[in-house]
Amino acid sequence: MGFHIMHSLSQLVRSFTPGNRMPRQILVTSALPYANGQIHLGHLVEYIQTDIWVRFQKLRGHNCRLFCADDTHGTAIMIRARQEGRSEEAMIADMRLDHIRDFSGFDIEFDNYGSTNSDQNRQLCHEIWSALRAANIVIEKPAERLFDPEVGTFLADRFVKGTCPKCGAEDQHGDACEKCLANYAPTELVNPRSTLSGAKPELRSSTQLFVQIEHLHEYLSTWTQTSGALQPEIANFLKNNFLADPLRDWDVSRPAKYFGFEIPDSPGNYWYVWFDAPIGYIASTAEWCQRTGEKLDDWWKNPESEIHHFIGKDITYFHTLFWPAMLHTAGFQLPSKVHIHGFLTVNGEKMSKSKGTFISAATYLKHLDPAYLRYYYASKQGPRVDDLDLNVVDFQTKVDADLVNKFVNIASRCAKLLEGQSLAEVYPDDGGLFRENAEAAERIAELYENCDTNAALREIMLLADKANQYIDAKQPWVVKKDLARLAEVRDICTVGLNLFRQLATYLAPVLPRIAQATGELLGIPILHWNDVHTPVLGQTVRPYSHLMKRVDTKKVHAMIEESKPAESATPESPPVATGGPVSNSFGDTSDELAKEALTAEHCTIDELMKADLRVARVLEAKHVEGADKLLQLTLSLGGDVTRNVFAGIKKAYKPEDLVGQLVICCANLKPRQMKFGLSEGMVLAVGPGGSDVFLLRGDSGAKPGMRVH
Ligand code: MSP
Ligand code: ZN
Repeated sequence: MGFHIMHSLSQLVRSFTPGNRMPRQILVTSALPYANGQIHLGHLVEYIQTDIWVRFQKLRGHNCRLFCADDTHGTAIMIRARQEGRSEEAMIADMRLDHIRDFSGFDIEFDNYGSTNSDQNRQLCHEIWSALRAANIVIEKPAERLFDPEVGTFLADRFVKGTCPKCGAEDQHGDACEKCLANYAPTELVNPRSTLSGAKPELRSSTQLFVQIEHLHEYLSTWTQTSGALQPEIANFLKNNFLADPLRDWDVSRPAKYFGFEIPDSPGNYWYVWFDAPIGYIASTAEWCQRTGEKLDDWWKNPESEIHHFIGKDITYFHTLFWPAMLHTAGFQLPSKVHIHGFLTVNGEKMSKSKGTFISAATYLKHLDPAYLRYYYASKQGPRVDDLDLNVVDFQTKVDADLVNKFVNIASRCAKLLEGQSLAEVYPDDGGLFRENAEAAERIAELYENCDTNAALREIMLLADKANQYIDAKQPWVVKKDLARLAEVRDICTVGLNLFRQLATYLAPVLPRIAQATGELLGIPILHWNDVHTPVLGQTVRPYSHLMKRVDTKKVHAMIEESKPAESATPESPPVATGGPVSNSFGDTSDELAKEALTAEHCTIDELMKADLRVARVLEAKHVEGADKLLQLTLSLGGDVTRNVFAGIKKAYKPEDLVGQLVICCANLKPRQMKFGLSEGMVLAVGPGGSDVFLLRGDSGAKPGMRVH
């Protein structure tokens, strides 16, 4: 108890030190993404938030490090590897590369990105396990567990769905309810079913290991309520829910077959993925220590070192009760703060594959600038656990208004006028604007510190308004016409560019690339938050290139379109292949074949190849006056080879949704003169017509001009 007060006091003192001169040592983690799926825009809420916070701390001169890893164990991975017909190790190795690629595409920089399936992690699991054993809080007892008789495996909590035993909400996972956030055992679900096969799970009994965290009830009550590590709403939630009752024994083992670490003193049993996953935070740090010569204990067993976890609200229980219990028992430092965020909705709803709002990081990056999303999320996030909505229209409006029209506009107006010339040698009189901007430094810093990026960005945009008003009033582009007043132009632009540089510094945690480009523009890199106190003078202004473009509506649409499942695609969770003849469990009937029977006569490859089918990109799509079924498409076959094509798809597709898309076109179809013009080809599609027409697409990676064969 005394220790905790000391700890939070020293934190208080640190955060009130003016200018934060004492460098802090800060270890930060984001939750470890599961290795069985791609990173999507929901995940990015967290990774972007964390990255911004860490970049902010680094810019303040603190010794701050960000660690993450892939969460590789558990049934989900096993099932997916089985579906793909390869080993778990091969699958997680591939997924890790994808995750790293996506994070770096969004400028999310980890000091180390590990894997829970590593030697370091296994070793640390052993160490923490021994500590739990030594503390005498591990017990063995028979446990009833749900078993999928069709697939032949015990079911991980996530693979059982049913009705919540607490609030009655339907379609809830086996471990926790999204509606009331209750945490329970999958055997308590009402009407459970396996999401793998749809079968009703059977109860099977086996001897299992449990951690009796009730022994730590009092410790956890004190920690959650008095350490200051939790947001007040989370502390209250825990107090009124879990901590109000005895804490249930934590079921920490899983019987074979399970992809994970075998428990050394209980052969045939494996640690449940949620045991080794958070230990992955330490293991990732250990990897980094090995590389850099740092000492692990300096980061994890040192009261002077802060530990900050960033997680989503769905995994609150694991991080605020189990994990602290494990850390405490094994003699590690407890988190100084667990920053918990809400969930992403898109256009006010849960992300949906059929609406194209379940957008992967990779798909986003194919179409849009990552800076847009970093800024948009930051502008919507505060220190509370609220959900966050990505409204596509608001996204575009906000990014255009704040970043392009306001922020970048300052630089583009001034830099072009002074390109190749030097800034003034002495900072001109600006009516106090530079000083006002600099004086905001600690205020804005405190908002970043508290994860209130929403308020921080509002402050910064107010400063940007003032800079723009200054430039509007001074009109350097008018002054420039008078050759006798060129020194005045230099002064105005020196002010404008210095105000811009201050804002770029404040925005550097959110928009690192612009901060970098600003450094290059004025010849002095932005390296520290305190750079806002010193104007840049006398430097030559380098050639200005666009810092940011307006959001292109067509690209937003194309991204959403690309995120929709292809018409023939598989349902959200494909069933498992269980061997034997492949059965069609997707519900596809033979109705279509009945309408048009398969052709009996064979065709030769030569006959097939007579049609020159090519991938083409839709460059332009427009309505045709007087035609109620046709769209006129300009297709590119690459370079400047194009085809003008009239396609009967007007009832099924909006022109703006087609632009940028890859379709398949017959490039050697005999041109045909139509009432509306010459049609020089045909796009391939299926379906009876009208609104039931489905274009064939070139899958991502295909290039215009590639031949179908
Ligand atoms: N593997 C666990 C975490 C283990 S940490 C020791 C896990 N993985 S996850 O891939 O499902 O989620 C990773 C993080 O992303 C979690 O913090 C989760 O809350 C967050 N998000 C996943 N989907 C999200 C949204 N739709 N919205 C906001 N955050 C979301 O949980
Ligand atoms: Zn519920």
